[in-house]
Amino acid sequence: MFKNVIVRRPSKSMVEGITSAPELGKPNYELALKQHDNYIEALKSCGVEVIVLNADERYPDSCFVEDVAVLTKTCAIVTNPGAKTRKGEEKEMIDTLKNFYPEEKIEYIKSPGTIEGGDVMMVGDHFYIGLSERTNEEGAKQFIKALEKHGCTGSVVPLKEVLHLKTGLAYLENNNLLVAGEFVDHPTFDQFNKILIHENESYSANCIWVNNKVLVPEGYEKTKEVIEGAGYEVVLVDTSEYRKLDGGLSCLSLRF
Ligand code: GLY
Repeated sequence: MFKNVIVRRPSKSMVEGITSAPELGKPNYELALKQHDNYIEALKSCGVEVIVLNADERYPDSCFVEDVAVLTKTCAIVTNPGAKTRKGEEKEMIDTLKNFYPEEKIEYIKSPGTIEGGDVMMVGDHFYIGLSERTNEEGAKQFIKALEKHGCTGSVVPLKEVLHLKTGLAYLENNNLLVAGEFVDHPTFDQFNKILIHENESYSANCIWVNNKVLVPEGYEKTKEVIEGAGYEVVLVDTSEYRKLDGGLSCLSLRF
Protein backbone atom coordinates (compact mmCIF):
# COMPACT_ATOMS: atom_id res chain seq x y z
CA MET A 1 0.00 0.00 0.00
CA PHE A 2 1.17 3.56 -0.66
CA LYS A 3 1.07 6.24 2.05
CA ASN A 4 2.51 9.20 0.18
CA VAL A 5 2.55 10.70 -3.27
CA ILE A 6 4.71 13.56 -4.58
CA VAL A 7 3.53 15.71 -7.49
CA ARG A 8 4.81 18.97 -9.01
CA ARG A 9 2.47 21.60 -10.43
CA PRO A 10 2.88 22.08 -14.17
CA SER A 11 4.83 25.19 -15.20
CA LYS A 12 3.57 27.69 -17.79
CA SER A 13 6.63 26.63 -19.78
CA MET A 14 5.07 23.16 -20.16
CA VAL A 15 3.81 24.28 -23.57
CA GLU A 16 7.45 23.93 -24.70
CA GLY A 17 7.77 20.38 -23.27
CA ILE A 18 9.19 17.48 -25.23
CA THR A 19 6.73 15.75 -27.54
CA SER A 20 6.79 13.06 -30.18
CA ALA A 21 3.26 14.03 -31.26
CA PRO A 22 3.25 17.72 -32.29
CA GLU A 23 0.15 17.00 -34.38
CA LEU A 24 -1.84 16.90 -31.10
CA GLY A 25 -1.10 20.61 -30.60
CA LYS A 26 0.33 22.49 -27.61
CA PRO A 27 -1.17 21.87 -24.18
CA ASN A 28 -3.72 24.36 -22.87
CA TYR A 29 -2.12 25.46 -19.61
CA GLU A 30 -5.34 26.39 -17.79
CA LEU A 31 -6.89 23.05 -18.66
CA ALA A 32 -3.70 21.25 -17.65
CA LEU A 33 -3.92 22.92 -14.23
CA LYS A 34 -7.54 21.79 -13.81
CA GLN A 35 -6.60 18.25 -14.82
CA HIS A 36 -3.75 18.36 -12.30
CA ASP A 37 -6.21 19.43 -9.57
CA ASN A 38 -8.42 16.48 -10.49
CA TYR A 39 -5.44 14.14 -10.48
CA ILE A 40 -4.56 15.23 -6.93
CA GLU A 41 -8.16 14.69 -5.81
CA ALA A 42 -8.23 11.24 -7.43
CA LEU A 43 -5.04 10.29 -5.57
CA LYS A 44 -6.45 11.55 -2.27
CA SER A 45 -9.54 9.40 -2.85
CA CYS A 46 -7.17 6.40 -2.72
CA GLY A 47 -6.14 7.29 0.84
CA VAL A 48 -2.70 8.78 0.25
CA GLU A 49 -1.22 12.05 1.44
CA VAL A 50 -0.23 14.21 -1.54
CA ILE A 51 2.83 16.47 -1.33
CA VAL A 52 2.45 19.22 -3.93
CA LEU A 53 5.68 20.90 -5.08
CA ASN A 54 5.70 24.32 -6.73
CA ALA A 55 5.96 24.68 -10.48
CA ASP A 56 9.50 25.10 -11.80
CA GLU A 57 9.48 27.32 -14.88
CA ARG A 58 13.06 26.41 -15.78
CA TYR A 59 12.01 22.90 -16.76
CA PRO A 60 9.04 22.51 -19.16
CA ASP A 61 8.67 18.79 -18.34
CA SER A 62 9.12 19.09 -14.58
CA CYS A 63 5.54 18.10 -13.73
CA PHE A 64 6.54 14.58 -14.83
CA VAL A 65 8.20 13.87 -11.47
CA GLU A 66 8.18 10.11 -11.92
CA ASP A 67 11.28 10.41 -14.10
CA VAL A 68 13.56 12.02 -11.52
CA ALA A 69 13.52 9.41 -8.75
CA VAL A 70 12.50 5.85 -7.97
CA LEU A 71 11.14 5.35 -4.46
CA THR A 72 11.17 1.89 -2.90
CA LYS A 73 10.36 0.52 0.55
CA THR A 74 14.07 0.39 1.41
CA CYS A 75 15.70 3.25 -0.52
CA ALA A 76 15.26 6.24 -2.82
CA ILE A 77 17.25 6.38 -6.04
CA VAL A 78 17.71 9.79 -7.64
CA THR A 79 17.92 9.30 -11.39
CA ASN A 80 19.91 11.08 -14.10
CA PRO A 81 17.46 11.97 -16.89
CA GLY A 82 18.51 11.08 -20.42
CA ALA A 83 16.67 14.00 -22.03
CA LYS A 84 19.01 17.02 -22.22
CA THR A 85 16.34 19.59 -21.32
CA ARG A 86 15.42 17.56 -18.22
CA LYS A 87 18.90 17.33 -16.71
CA GLY A 88 18.87 19.16 -13.37
CA GLU A 89 15.23 18.37 -12.53
CA GLU A 90 16.41 15.51 -10.34
CA LYS A 91 18.38 17.87 -8.06
CA GLU A 92 15.17 19.76 -7.28
CA MET A 93 13.65 16.60 -5.79
CA ILE A 94 16.43 15.77 -3.31
CA ASP A 95 15.38 18.03 -0.42
CA THR A 96 11.86 16.61 -0.52
CA LEU A 97 13.18 13.04 -0.49
CA LYS A 98 15.28 13.85 2.57
CA ASN A 99 12.03 14.37 4.50
CA PHE A 100 11.22 10.69 3.96
CA TYR A 101 14.55 8.83 3.60
CA PRO A 102 17.74 9.16 5.70
CA GLU A 103 20.90 10.14 3.75
CA GLU A 104 22.25 6.58 3.76
CA LYS A 105 19.11 5.34 2.03
CA ILE A 106 19.39 7.79 -0.87
CA GLU A 107 21.40 6.67 -3.93
CA TYR A 108 22.36 8.69 -7.01
CA ILE A 109 22.82 7.65 -10.65
CA LYS A 110 25.81 9.39 -12.21
CA SER A 111 26.83 10.24 -15.79
CA PRO A 112 27.56 8.64 -18.18
CA GLY A 113 24.73 6.54 -16.72
CA THR A 114 21.26 7.83 -17.54
CA ILE A 115 17.92 6.52 -16.35
CA GLU A 116 14.40 7.93 -16.08
CA GLY A 117 11.80 6.58 -13.66
CA GLY A 118 9.30 6.06 -16.47
CA ASP A 119 11.55 3.21 -17.52
CA VAL A 120 11.28 1.47 -14.14
CA MET A 121 8.41 -0.82 -13.15
CA MET A 122 8.19 -2.08 -9.58
CA VAL A 123 6.88 -5.60 -8.96
CA GLY A 124 7.33 -6.24 -5.25
CA ASP A 125 11.09 -6.15 -4.58
CA HIS A 126 11.98 -6.61 -8.24
CA PHE A 127 12.36 -3.74 -10.70
CA TYR A 128 12.13 -4.08 -14.50
CA ILE A 129 14.23 -1.46 -16.28
CA GLY A 130 13.57 -0.49 -19.89
CA LEU A 131 16.63 0.31 -21.99
CA SER A 132 15.43 3.23 -24.07
CA GLU A 133 16.59 6.49 -25.63
CA ARG A 134 16.48 7.92 -22.08
CA THR A 135 17.90 4.99 -20.08
CA ASN A 136 21.24 3.46 -21.04
CA GLU A 137 23.04 0.28 -19.99
CA GLU A 138 25.38 2.13 -17.64
CA GLY A 139 22.42 3.79 -15.92
CA ALA A 140 20.67 0.43 -15.55
CA LYS A 141 23.88 -1.14 -14.18
CA GLN A 142 24.28 1.55 -11.51
CA PHE A 143 20.58 1.32 -10.72
CA ILE A 144 20.67 -2.46 -10.19
CA LYS A 145 23.75 -2.10 -7.98
CA ALA A 146 21.92 0.48 -5.85
CA LEU A 147 18.85 -1.76 -5.61
CA GLU A 148 20.94 -4.75 -4.52
CA LYS A 149 22.64 -2.68 -1.82
CA HIS A 150 19.17 -2.19 -0.31
CA GLY A 151 17.83 -5.75 -0.68
CA CYS A 152 16.03 -5.44 -4.03
CA THR A 153 16.74 -6.80 -7.51
CA GLY A 154 16.52 -5.50 -11.07
CA SER A 155 16.61 -6.74 -14.66
CA VAL A 156 16.67 -5.01 -18.03
CA VAL A 157 14.19 -5.04 -20.91
CA PRO A 158 15.40 -3.51 -24.20
CA LEU A 159 12.62 -1.37 -25.72
CA LYS A 160 11.81 -1.20 -29.42
CA GLU A 161 9.04 1.34 -29.93
CA VAL A 162 7.80 3.04 -26.80
CA LEU A 163 9.30 6.12 -25.09
CA HIS A 164 9.40 4.56 -21.63
CA LEU A 165 8.78 1.04 -20.28
CA LYS A 166 5.60 2.21 -18.55
CA THR A 167 4.30 3.76 -21.76
CA GLY A 168 3.17 0.20 -22.53
CA LEU A 169 2.99 -1.58 -19.16
CA ALA A 170 1.33 -1.07 -15.78
CA TYR A 171 1.60 -3.45 -12.86
CA LEU A 172 -1.71 -3.64 -10.97
CA GLU A 173 -0.45 -5.90 -8.14
CA ASN A 174 -1.81 -9.46 -7.56
CA ASN A 175 0.27 -10.61 -10.56
CA ASN A 176 -1.95 -8.57 -12.92
CA LEU A 177 -0.15 -6.69 -15.68
CA LEU A 178 -1.66 -4.31 -18.22
CA VAL A 179 0.13 -4.78 -21.52
CA ALA A 180 0.06 -2.92 -24.83
CA GLY A 181 1.93 -3.01 -28.14
CA GLU A 182 5.40 -4.54 -28.06
CA PHE A 183 4.78 -6.08 -24.62
CA VAL A 184 1.72 -8.17 -25.50
CA ASP A 185 3.82 -11.14 -26.64
CA HIS A 186 7.01 -10.28 -24.77
CA PRO A 187 8.31 -13.49 -23.10
CA THR A 188 9.75 -11.58 -20.13
CA PHE A 189 6.21 -10.99 -18.89
CA ASP A 190 4.74 -14.44 -19.54
CA GLN A 191 4.41 -15.28 -15.84
CA PHE A 192 1.91 -12.46 -15.29
CA ASN A 193 -1.86 -12.49 -15.81
CA LYS A 194 -1.79 -10.20 -18.82
CA ILE A 195 -4.67 -7.78 -19.28
CA LEU A 196 -4.53 -6.68 -22.90
CA ILE A 197 -5.03 -3.08 -23.99
CA HIS A 198 -6.83 -2.69 -27.30
CA GLU A 199 -4.51 -1.38 -30.01
CA ASN A 200 -6.73 1.69 -30.54
CA GLU A 201 -6.34 2.61 -26.85
CA SER A 202 -2.62 2.02 -26.37
CA TYR A 203 -2.11 5.38 -24.60
CA SER A 204 -4.27 4.12 -21.74
CA ALA A 205 -1.81 1.37 -20.80
CA ASN A 206 -0.29 4.06 -18.60
CA CYS A 207 -2.57 3.53 -15.61
CA ILE A 208 -1.60 3.48 -11.93
CA TRP A 209 -2.59 1.16 -9.12
CA VAL A 210 -3.03 3.07 -5.85
CA ASN A 211 -4.20 1.07 -2.86
CA ASN A 212 -6.51 -1.33 -4.75
CA LYS A 213 -8.02 1.35 -6.97
CA VAL A 214 -6.74 1.99 -10.48
CA LEU A 215 -6.47 5.47 -11.98
CA VAL A 216 -7.31 5.23 -15.68
CA PRO A 217 -7.17 8.03 -18.27
CA GLU A 218 -10.64 9.28 -19.24
CA GLY A 219 -11.93 8.44 -22.70
CA TYR A 220 -10.69 4.86 -23.10
CA GLU A 221 -13.81 2.76 -22.64
CA LYS A 222 -12.34 -0.63 -23.52
CA THR A 223 -9.52 -0.16 -21.04
CA LYS A 224 -11.93 0.89 -18.31
CA GLU A 225 -14.04 -2.22 -18.96
CA VAL A 226 -11.15 -4.71 -18.85
CA ILE A 227 -9.77 -3.23 -15.63
CA GLU A 228 -13.20 -3.27 -13.98
CA GLY A 229 -13.62 -6.81 -15.31
CA ALA A 230 -10.46 -7.78 -13.44
CA GLY A 231 -12.14 -6.64 -10.23
CA TYR A 232 -10.71 -3.16 -9.66
CA GLU A 233 -12.48 0.05 -8.79
CA VAL A 234 -11.59 2.52 -11.53
CA VAL A 235 -11.03 6.25 -10.97
CA LEU A 236 -11.08 8.22 -14.22
CA VAL A 237 -8.82 11.24 -14.75
CA ASP A 238 -8.65 13.31 -17.92
CA THR A 239 -5.01 13.67 -19.05
CA SER A 240 -5.55 15.10 -22.54
CA GLU A 241 -3.11 18.01 -22.04
CA TYR A 242 -0.34 15.75 -20.72
CA ARG A 243 -0.81 13.29 -23.55
CA LYS A 244 0.26 16.11 -25.88
CA LEU A 245 3.68 15.86 -24.16
CA ASP A 246 3.86 12.05 -24.22
CA GLY A 247 2.90 12.10 -20.53
CA GLY A 248 0.39 10.05 -18.62
CA LEU A 249 -0.90 9.16 -15.18
CA SER A 250 2.23 7.43 -13.91
CA CYS A 251 4.54 10.20 -15.15
CA LEU A 252 2.81 12.80 -12.94
CA SER A 253 3.66 11.33 -9.53
CA LEU A 254 6.01 9.45 -7.25
CA ARG A 255 4.10 6.91 -5.15
CA PHE A 256 5.59 5.29 -2.07
N1 GLY B 1 7.44 15.22 -22.28
C1 GLY B 1 7.81 14.25 -21.33
C2 GLY B 1 9.16 13.74 -21.62
O1 GLY B 1 9.43 13.56 -22.79
O2 GLY B 1 9.98 13.53 -20.78
